[in-house]
Amino acid sequence: VHCSLRGAVVEQKTTEPLLLSAVRGEDVERPPVWLMRQAGRYMKSYQIICEKYPSFRERSENVDLVVEISLQPWNVFKPDGVILFSDILTPLSGMNIPFDIVKGKGPIIFNPIQSTADVDEVKEFIPEAFVPYVGEALTILRKEVDMKAAVLGFVGAPFTLASYVVEGGSSKNFTKIKRLAFSQPKVLHALLDKFATSMAKYIKYQADNGAQAVQIFDSWATELSPVDFEEFSLPYLKRIVDSVKQTHPELPLILYASGSGGLLERLPLTGVDVVSLDWTVDMADGRRRLGNDVAVQGNVDPGVLFGSKEFITNRIHDTVRKAGKGKHVLNLGHGIKVGTPEENVAHFFEVAKAIRY
Ligand code: CP3
Repeated sequence: VHCSLRGAVVEQKTTEPLLLSAVRGEDVERPPVWLMRQAGRYMKSYQIICEKYPSFRERSENVDLVVEISLQPWNVFKPDGVILFSDILTPLSGMNIPFDIVKGKGPIIFNPIQSTADVDEVKEFIPEAFVPYVGEALTILRKEVDMKAAVLGFVGAPFTLASYVVEGGSSKNFTKIKRLAFSQPKVLHALLDKFATSMAKYIKYQADNGAQAVQIFDSWATELSPVDFEEFSLPYLKRIVDSVKQTHPELPLILYASGSGGLLERLPLTGVDVVSLDWTVDMADGRRRLGNDVAVQGNVDPGVLFGSKEFITNRIHDTVRKAGKGKHVLNLGHGIKVGTPEENVAHFFEVAKAIRY
C-alpha cells in the first residue's frame, strides 16, 4: 500500500485491515469504506439467490448461503469491511422467541412479549448451541477475505430488539413498547436485561470466531426522548460494552443509533469506539459534538445513491472533508435502499477508494 502524499512513497506500517487502523486513530492514507446492508436486494446476484431460496431464515442460517451472500459485495466492490449476512433477529429463536421475516411484511414475532410471565420464558442465548452457522460462516469469511478487509459482525441493541418482540414486528407508532415502558417499566427492564446479557455473549462469540469489529444497531433509539434513552437504552449498551471490553479489549465496537441527532453527546458514554451517524446531522457538527475520543462513521444519505455520479462524488468529498483526517469510516447514514442502481454503488466505492488525505 502506498501513500502519495507530497509525492513521497511511504510504505504503510501495518498489515491489518485499513478499517481497524483507522478506528484506532493510526495514520491512514484514506478513510476505509463499507456500506450498511451492502449485501441484499439491490444486487441482482442476491435476487437470483432469493428466487432459489425464498426463505430469509434459510438464506441467513445456512453456512454456504451466508458466506456466498456476504461475499457478493466483496467480490464486486472490494469494500474495506465485509459484514456477515444475518439479521439482528437471528438470535431470537435461540432465546425461545420464534420469528420469521416475511416478504412484503418484514419481521413477524409469533408470540409478542407483554408480561412478566412472557419475559420469564425468554432464555439466555447460547450462541454455539443455537447459531453454530454464524461462527462457521465468520471463520470462512476471515479466510476468504484474508486481512484485505475487516470482517464485521453485528447485534441488535437491547431496546431495538425489545421493540420488535413487544410490538410483534415492525411498528409505525410504537404504542405497545411505549405502553410497557411507561406503565410497567420493570417488565421492560427485565427483558432489556436479558437482551444485554445475551448480546454481550453473542458479540464475544462473533469475535472468537473471526469478527474483527462488531456493530451494535439501535435502529429504534430514534423513538426515545433523551431522558428515556438514558433509562431504556444507554445503561444496557454500556453494560454490553463493559462486558465485551473485559474479555476483548481490542475489539472495536461501533454503535449505530438512527435518529440520534438529539442524543449525540450521550452516545460516547456507552464506551463504544465508533459512533455511526445518520444523515440528519451535519458531519462537521457530529464530529465536534462527539469529541475526539471516538471515531465517526456513516452520515451519507442512502438516497444520494439515486443521484448522478457527479452528485455522489461531491457528497462523498464533502463528508470526508467534514469528518477530517483519520478516525473516520465512510458509510451511509442507514442501509442501502432496495432499487439502488448497482453501478452507483460501484461508483461510490471507486470514488471512496481513490481518496487520499
Ligand atoms: O448490512 C448487511 O449487508 C448485513 C445484513 C443485514 C440484514 N439485516 C439483512 C436483511 C443487517 C446488518 C441487518 C440488520 C437489521 N435487521 C436491522 C438493523 C439495521 C437497520 O436497518 O436499522 C434491523 C432493524 C433489522 C430487522 C429487519 N430485518 C427489517 C426491518 C427487515 C426488512 C424487512 C423487509 O422486508 O424490508 C429485515 C429483513 C432483512 N434483513 C433483509 C435483509 C437483506 C431484507 C429481506 C430480504 O432480503 O429478503
